[in-house]
Amino acid sequence: MNNNTSRPLRIALTKGRLEKDTVALLEKIGYDCTAVHEKGRKLILPVGDSIEVVLAKAADVITYVENGVCDLGVVGKDTIIEMQGKFFELSDLGFGKCRFALAGKKGEDFYEGIHVRTIATKYPNVARTFFEKKNMDVDIVKIEGSVELAPLLGLSHAIVDIVETGTTLKENGLEVYEYICPISARLIANMVSLKLRKEEIEKLISAIEANI
Ligand code: PRP
Repeated sequence: MNNNTSRPLRIALTKGRLEKDTVALLEKIGYDCTAVHEKGRKLILPVGDSIEVVLAKAADVITYVENGVCDLGVVGKDTIIEMQGKFFELSDLGFGKCRFALAGKKGEDFYEGIHVRTIATKYPNVARTFFEKKNMDVDIVKIEGSVELAPLLGLSHAIVDIVETGTTLKENGLEVYEYICPISARLIANMVSLKLRKEEIEKLISAIEANI
């Protein structure tokens, strides 16, 4: 077991998109985030006396929380749906709002014809489940980023990706064919930490929930 109650409560934050809003939320509930603002290349940072923040990639936030080396995590529902895993999803934090969508070249009829479509995505499980529900046989190609390139380069017929403002699609001559589901940032917790550090975690959750 990796849970260690003698260290500060440890929260894994998703670097990038969700980082700013998460830090703003921690500040709103009274935590001093100076160390995070002045982080440089540091990855573990104290937030007040009782909490430390770990900056990680979305999928790794889940891995660290599942394994109990972090007690809590802030991660997008997109990564949660894609990765699943053994942890508790505690709250919808209300930021990082976007949607999963099926998208492709503007003006094309994706559903026309009976050929097997190729779908490029960073989220193969989400794409597989989406097409299974439609009873559609598709080939899925895993792409690591800038997924919009795949249909433009002719690698895929469409993409399954997150759409926030829609700007990336628009500026690349693509459009949404179908929205799949809404996404937002979630607070997750390690199952053992929830028992061992119940009071600390509950206190933090009430403060967070009063401010979202
Ligand atoms: C995400 C997503 C789209 C873009 C959508 O990529 O994969 O490319 O954001 O946002 P928009 O609708 O506001 O334009 P991200 O910026 O996370 O980078 P990536 O492509 O390298 O994964």
